[in-house]
Amino acid sequence: MNILLLGGGGREHAFAWKIKQSPLCSQLFIAPGNAGTETCGVNIPISYNDFDKVKDLVLEKEINLVLVGPEEPLVNGIVDFFKKEEALSDVKIIGPAAYPAQLEGSKAFAKKFMEEYNIPTAAYKEFTAANLDEGIAFIEEQIPPIVLKADGLAAGKGVLILDDKEEAKAELKMMLGGKFGAASQTVVIEEFLSGIEFSVFAITDGKDYQLLPVAKDYKRIGEGDTGLNTGGMGAVSPVPFVDEVLMSKVVERIVKPTIKGIKEQALDYIGFVFFGLIAVDNEPYVIEYNCRMGDPETEVVLPRLKNDFVALLNAAAEGAISDQAIEIDSRAATALMLVSGGYPQAYTKGKKINGLESVSDSIIFHAGTKTVGENVVTNGGRVLALTSYGPSFKEALAVSKSNAEKVKFEGVYYRKDIGFDL
Ligand code: AMP
Ligand code: GLY
Repeated sequence: MNILLLGGGGREHAFAWKIKQSPLCSQLFIAPGNAGTETCGVNIPISYNDFDKVKDLVLEKEINLVLVGPEEPLVNGIVDFFKKEEALSDVKIIGPAAYPAQLEGSKAFAKKFMEEYNIPTAAYKEFTAANLDEGIAFIEEQIPPIVLKADGLAAGKGVLILDDKEEAKAELKMMLGGKFGAASQTVVIEEFLSGIEFSVFAITDGKDYQLLPVAKDYKRIGEGDTGLNTGGMGAVSPVPFVDEVLMSKVVERIVKPTIKGIKEQALDYIGFVFFGLIAVDNEPYVIEYNCRMGDPETEVVLPRLKNDFVALLNAAAEGAISDQAIEIDSRAATALMLVSGGYPQAYTKGKKINGLESVSDSIIFHAGTKTVGENVVTNGGRVLALTSYGPSFKEALAVSKSNAEKVKFEGVYYRKDIGFDL
């Protein structure tokens, strides 16, 4: 089978690494990829947002299956585009159509869906510029912290948690006034939930599902979960506090009703459902849905998945996911993200990365990297994930940390406390 993988981050390197291990994969292409995916297949320098170019590539390389990594092309309708194009009718594509991708692409859509299927989530109300006054009055009634969410995709910046009502009112005005462009034309204001977050992943064929290993990521830049939010500074799998009792609540109250909703509404959804959850006194609530795998969660989830990943993707595409049985490595895995100095604010790209050849006992997943001549250089905020195995996440983290010391580039930073709260 010829496979095209869309994306170019750490998640995609982990996908490519796993796909390459499958005897079912003949040729792998990655668009655009990074310096890591290059070692698993052939990078093609096109934008995944240019659907016509993706189509040409699929036809030229006789691609049988396309795996979409990031949310943007999904929310923008790449799956719908594939279904409309006669020439692509035989090509399998893994990802939801634009309408169900709104589970991630529209907070208001996700909230309505959860309400309809009685899925536990924070209480909420949605507001537009037309009812700004009601929004202000609603904030006045709340006990802070106040959670404001831009309805649409805002590059991970659309959620604001504010301790001060007046500040929340001012932010609501700015958001509805276009602070995040079209993404904040609608704003969801929701109840603040206090607890500990974790991530559950399902792969679905639209009717049934299989669960992948549970993970937890660390989004803040600073140790002890302080400072600005990032795409993710590290991840662990499994998550020690997610025991059988909590997991069975997640499955019964959240996963099954979500898949039931997808099936009942005949949503065109083949691919991953990422449940961003929070446990409040051991009761799980949905913080958000994503319509794709997480990054850096994928860098710990896939190393623990023993299944042939291509077989799993193919089963999802053929409506036969229920025939698969998931096998999980009993070892723990920890991913440590090495980032550019300054990230998540301004940073410089193009720094030469040294010492990669000295890394042992960790898997190097490239994120923001590219090859320039003989060198691998930084090409993004999140540069590399170092994933290690261990009897527990702590031992795995120790291996990743000792390898992180060997990787050098100007300004390199990483958190040393991944898993600190577990
Ligand atoms: P989201 O983009 O919806 O995942 O939100 C980003 C982050 O904001 C989450 O990972 C949580 O840490 C936090 N968050 C979002 N919604 C809530 C909420 N209702 N209560 C507490 N924290 C929240
Ligand atoms: N690590 C969180 C995300 O992928 O959205």
